[in-house]
Amino acid sequence: MHKINQRENLHTSVAHDPYDGRHHGAIHIPIYQTSLFSFDSYERFMQAHADEHQQHVYSRGNNPTVRFLEDKLAELEGAEMSKCFASGMAAISATILSNLQAGDHVVCVDQAYGPTRHFLEHYVSRFQIETTFVDGSSLEAIEAALQPNTKLLYLESPSTMLFQLQDLAACAKLARSRGIVTAIDGTWATPVFQRPLELGVDLVIHSITKYISGQSDSVGGVVSGSKELVGRIASGEYMLLGGIMSAHTAAQVERCLRTLPLRLERHERSGLKVAEHLCRQPYVLRVNHPGLPSHPQYELAKRQMDGTSGLFSFESAESPETMRAWSDRLRYFKIGVSWGGFESLITANPVPTGYGAPGARSLVRLHVGLESADDLIRDLDEAWEQTAAEAAAERSEQ
Ligand SMILES: Cc1ncc(COP(=O)(O)O)c(C=O)c1O
Repeated sequence: MHKINQRENLHTSVAHDPYDGRHHGAIHIPIYQTSLFSFDSYERFMQAHADEHQQHVYSRGNNPTVRFLEDKLAELEGAEMSKCFASGMAAISATILSNLQAGDHVVCVDQAYGPTRHFLEHYVSRFQIETTFVDGSSLEAIEAALQPNTKLLYLESPSTMLFQLQDLAACAKLARSRGIVTAIDGTWATPVFQRPLELGVDLVIHSITKYISGQSDSVGGVVSGSKELVGRIASGEYMLLGGIMSAHTAAQVERCLRTLPLRLERHERSGLKVAEHLCRQPYVLRVNHPGLPSHPQYELAKRQMDGTSGLFSFESAESPETMRAWSDRLRYFKIGVSWGGFESLITANPVPTGYGAPGARSLVRLHVGLESADDLIRDLDEAWEQTAAEAAAERSEQ
């Protein structure tokens, strides 16, 4: 699963930047805490205004600290241009809106992030835009859903509940042959493990809130792609809807970017160790992790990703109540949404209708953080021993 040289180069990329030597030699980009930029002549002002996305006029359009982070992310992604937003959802909604008009049709994978689905189904639909949700693991299903008015194919690979993949090169080729723009939410893999633009996808979105920030203290998003497509978002939805990233957040995220490959390598190692351990537990029916040979798309995962991150799920025949009682006993896994930070997290829910292995009742999602994998495994085992003993005692009382 590892293309070591490419992964090694990333460590150098995140440690060096195009601004080296500027800003009095400051090793970090200064925080440009300013809403506007002033000019010493009206002519200079008019010139800057005519080229607002390269020049600095107003921070809702372009701020040097934010721009620095955008250039770093574009480099990691292999993109001509990136634009950073106030959240992942701001980047997602701007990207979707930028590529659609009334009367258009979207094909979206059915396992996309809930609010993305909601946005397409209940918000964008108000503007006479229709969406068909499809099984993203089937290229045939995607092809069958395309219509003459389809303008956007929206992917999320891997998905972040059941960890299903799409064949990105095949999807991009199909969409391109019909003049359809392809966008992907690639948050799970980050640019460290997956670079969809190299596979022909047009636009890549990340929730920066997750691994790219990695400290669970920032909210942000980014979209990357060609100057034409991202430039249109920058002068359109970015400016008009105004969901911009602040200079402070950009500086905070820039610090986090320095350790992104390092953190991801640890999330990968520990995530796989915990997942392999869970495969052997009696309360686990199936582990959904694209890095395990048992995953139905393991070969595809190896082909289109350089590694795997620390978020995965497992299905259990135990009830959600039992799995929640188990979660309550865990010492290191905190109960909470989101993921990608330093901390381990858990959620336990009923298996969504129509999904899951036969007999599965609960879907437990784990984020394996930066703690010792052995400590995490001990935590899971000890909590399960207590939960199983309590369930046995309850059964004997009945
Ligand atoms: C896969 C995925 N995409 C996008 C988002 C949205 O990101 P944000 O919360 O930064 O808006 C999330 C948030 O959980 C997510 O899990």
